Amino acid sequence: MRTIFITGASSGIGAACARALARENTTLILAARREDKLRDLAAACAPARTHILPLDITDSAAIHAALAGLPSDLQAIDVLINNAGGAIGLEGAAEAHLEDWQRMIDTNITGLITMTRGVLPGMKARGRGHIINISSIAGSYPYAGAAVYGGCKAFVTYFSLAMRADLLGTSIRVSNIEPGMVETDFSLVRFKGDASRAASVYAGTAPLKAEDIAECVRFALDAPAHVNINRIEVMPTMQAPGGPVVARTS
Ligand SMILES: NC(=O)c1ccc[n+]([C@@H]2O[C@H](COP(=O)([O-])OP(=O)(O)OC[C@H]3O[C@@H](n4cnc5c(N)ncnc54)[C@H](OP(=O)(O)O)[C@@H]3O)[C@@H](O)[C@H]2O)c1
Repeated sequence: MRTIFITGASSGIGAACARALARENTTLILAARREDKLRDLAAACAPARTHILPLDITDSAAIHAALAGLPSDLQAIDVLINNAGGAIGLEGAAEAHLEDWQRMIDTNITGLITMTRGVLPGMKARGRGHIINISSIAGSYPYAGAAVYGGCKAFVTYFSLAMRADLLGTSIRVSNIEPGMVETDFSLVRFKGDASRAASVYAGTAPLKAEDIAECVRFALDAPAHVNINRIEVMPTMQAPGGPVVARTS
């Protein structure tokens, strides 16, 4: 029996990962704030066993309590998919709301490291485990309006690679998945519920689907035990890095 803990399982990439990894002999621990969405997802994950965990990843005490409170047969987490996160706002650095920046740091960084630190000692004691972090191309390629979101994802990418160094000599694997544009609720959340602005992000192009990223996760997980997929950077064919930009006064 394999136990897989997915944060941010209530929508988008996290939900797609749950569906892609739902197999017999697997227990999926599905965590997010929206319990109703987790319940719907759990019903779609048969034949896998599911355990629903309402959790706000920004609440470190709640993470510790949730991990300690898992049923005894689910304490040994084999796979942690650190997926919960996202962007809030697209304003430039001089206009951005400090509380949006703080929320992105609390979710994408503090939540992710708290989950990891909570789960990793058990993996180390058991001598096995796999941590999959959902970072972003925003961590490698800066764009206007993403100073803190991209900064958070750059942290996640570095954290993944540095953990590989810390865990060298163990059988624990760490993989960093770096998606480009994926059509999910990501833009709806970024634009604080403005559905038409969110839809305009994906209009007239062919973005990735959440299932494409779930497939990357599955590939990293299903690699033979002696293979560690360090990073997967993936963009839609209709997206490419933009390179430095230049302002001209005339
Ligand atoms: N979509 C893209 O273009 C894209 C590209 C690169 C990377 N990513 C990354 O992919 C990951 C998943 O995003 P997505 O595209 O699937 O967006 P999404 O559909 O908005 O999903 C975000 C998930 O994160 C959860 N979440 C957010 N804040 C949380 C909190 N405080 N506590 C617990 N869970 C929280 C949400 O659940 P609740 O709201 O129910 O709590 C939801 O399940 C994020 O880390 C995002 O940065 C996305």
